[in-house]
Amino acid sequence: MSLSDFEIVQTTTGATSIRNKIVNEIMHNPIGPWQEANALYVEQSGLRLRLQNGRTNDLVIYDIGLGAASNAVASIHCALTLGQAGRRLHIISFENNLALLEFTLLNAHEFSHLTGYSEALEAILRDHHWTSPCGRIVWDLRAGDFLDLIDQETSYPEIVYFDPYSPSVNEDMWTLSCFTKLRLRCAAAEGQEATDLFTYSIATPIRAAMFLAGFYVGYGLPTGLKVETTHASTHLNTLNQPLSERWYERWQRSDKQLPFDAENYDSLALQRRMAQHSQFNGMSPMWKPLNPKQNKGLRNLVNLVNLESNPQPVSLG
Ligand SMILES: C[S@@+](CC[C@H](N)C(=O)[O-])C[C@H]1O[C@@H](n2cnc3c(N)ncnc32)[C@H](O)[C@@H]1O
Repeated sequence: MSLSDFEIVQTTTGATSIRNKIVNEIMHNPIGPWQEANALYVEQSGLRLRLQNGRTNDLVIYDIGLGAASNAVASIHCALTLGQAGRRLHIISFENNLALLEFTLLNAHEFSHLTGYSEALEAILRDHHWTSPCGRIVWDLRAGDFLDLIDQETSYPEIVYFDPYSPSVNEDMWTLSCFTKLRLRCAAAEGQEATDLFTYSIATPIRAAMFLAGFYVGYGLPTGLKVETTHASTHLNTLNQPLSERWYERWQRSDKQLPFDAENYDSLALQRRMAQHSQFNGMSPMWKPLNPKQNKGLRNLVNLVNLESNPQPVSLG
């Protein structure tokens, strides 16, 4: 992708944003980059309060899909307003195509929220690293395919901003395989601090992939014209509103039950795993057979584990 693949556009509500002409997607539609970054990611994750919660460890954010850096800059902005108080913030951004960031920098005058951040953006583009003058904010870029890079990541995140393009053009990022890789880097046990993931998608196969990867899944706050987003977590008790029995019943009737990459797994095992997920304990009916189409051409790759206490990632292989 190159700079000419992007253009400045107005969203449906009149905010200034960027369109990727190749995949024909307007980012942050409809409310624009700054409002979406703050409402969906920074405020919903409670970043400000977390930075002031008295813990002494660094607060690590995975910023998946750096793109035009709105989510990262909004997080930096939030931390800077706290001055010297609070925890250190470490943002780890993942991006496999820096053309969008280059385009954003060239057009920074179009985005008032970037005022004062050009130096940080230039450093992240050039050095893949930036530290704030006060030393309390560290920003690293992992350049390349998230699906490869995540396997090498060592620091586990407290917050995940999950913001690839939509599944219609970026399906591999919304699969069970991807969420399983991510889950392996998150909080491992109930005793450990939770990892909370926020994303704009509410699609059933995506939420199913999150469940099957070992997350608990909840309704996220409405943002702009979106009536709902998704908040997933390693710990059930950090979800404000876990997906309900009604969602589970609808999932059972859905013709899009399984993750986009379900053909790589034993779909019967996936369904059983879903039914046994501890978020839905006590629900009935516990298990429904698959329809024949979904049963075609399956490979037996799923290792069912006991999900009673804490769901663990599906293991492949
Ligand atoms: C919707 S944009 C992100 C917008 C951004 N979060 C912001 O605040 O402006 C999606 C981004 O995800 C990136 N992306 C998609 N698939 C990826 C992958 N496999 N690894 C790393 N980045 C990826 C795209 O290149 C694109 O820049």
